[in-house]
Amino acid sequence: MLRTECEVALWEGEAAVPRDVLLREATQADGLYCLLTERVDAELLNAAPRLKVVSNMAVGYDNIDVPACTARGIPVGNTPSVLTETTADLTWAIMMAAARRVVEGVDWVRHGRWGTWGPLLLAGVDVHGATLGIIGYGRIGQAMARRARGFDMRVLCSHTSRAEAESIGECVDLDTLLAQSDFISIHTALNKDTYHLINTERLTKMKRTAVLVNAARGPIVDPDALYDALQSGTIFAAALDVTEPEPLPQDHPLLTLPNCIVVPHIGSASIATRIKMALMAAQNLLAGLHGERLPYCVNPQVYRDQWSANPPIEESDNRVTE
Ligand code: GLV
Repeated sequence: MLRTECEVALWEGEAAVPRDVLLREATQADGLYCLLTERVDAELLNAAPRLKVVSNMAVGYDNIDVPACTARGIPVGNTPSVLTETTADLTWAIMMAAARRVVEGVDWVRHGRWGTWGPLLLAGVDVHGATLGIIGYGRIGQAMARRARGFDMRVLCSHTSRAEAESIGECVDLDTLLAQSDFISIHTALNKDTYHLINTERLTKMKRTAVLVNAARGPIVDPDALYDALQSGTIFAAALDVTEPEPLPQDHPLLTLPNCIVVPHIGSASIATRIKMALMAAQNLLAGLHGERLPYCVNPQVYRDQWSANPPIEESDNRVTE
């Protein structure tokens, strides 16, 4: 799609684009199609005087300094909505896996430790009928709540407006959510208010049987505090699709804990969804290069002067990641 209209400088490496390569290539670029692994900040924008558009192939955009883009009149695109259900599926999968100790069970069998049936062998906690606390009740948080209905769960939510929460969840303050939830699932954006939102103090407020799930952004949870809480039995288990840092080094203490499941930021990774995201990001990029309004724009204020008569097609919900 892009090659039919543009000259494309493509980074084909498996790892993120090295910073020096990105800064060098940016000097000639009219558009940037990037992943959440690329930091788009003032340094990069200053190196790219021709840049007309930044298109992120992700719904979250904490890797981009949006105000710096807006100040330069550069629209930023993201990929909302298409990954909502896929991400909720994965979040649900790791939540259940942690609750019922599925990964430990697989290891148990693989390593020849399955000797007999035991009354308390790998006993976990029930999901059905439990209370699910959702921090950040945007698109993905609400998709989690819909799944919870099928498991007869009570749903609490924080970091949301009451109007949104009334549909399925009860809107409560964070302390109430932490104290009453059996499962706590994070679906809020990463910003200065949510950085290390889950710290030692908040982990201590959770039930000893609680399972913490993070499929939003790693730095919302303080990893050292989480390690201590899991190791000391302050909470029962954790399931992480995102970590701080990413990738998590192989010798990270969290990986030594049987009650911590970590998968490599694959929330939206179904083939169908990743194709949709790739196409959306390409549409955003081409629209920006043509000087048209991006179909999915996180800073529509760049258009305020030019197109004040037309509201954006879809404004992103910046409380929600993925
Ligand atoms: C993935 O984390 C995304 O934001 O799309």
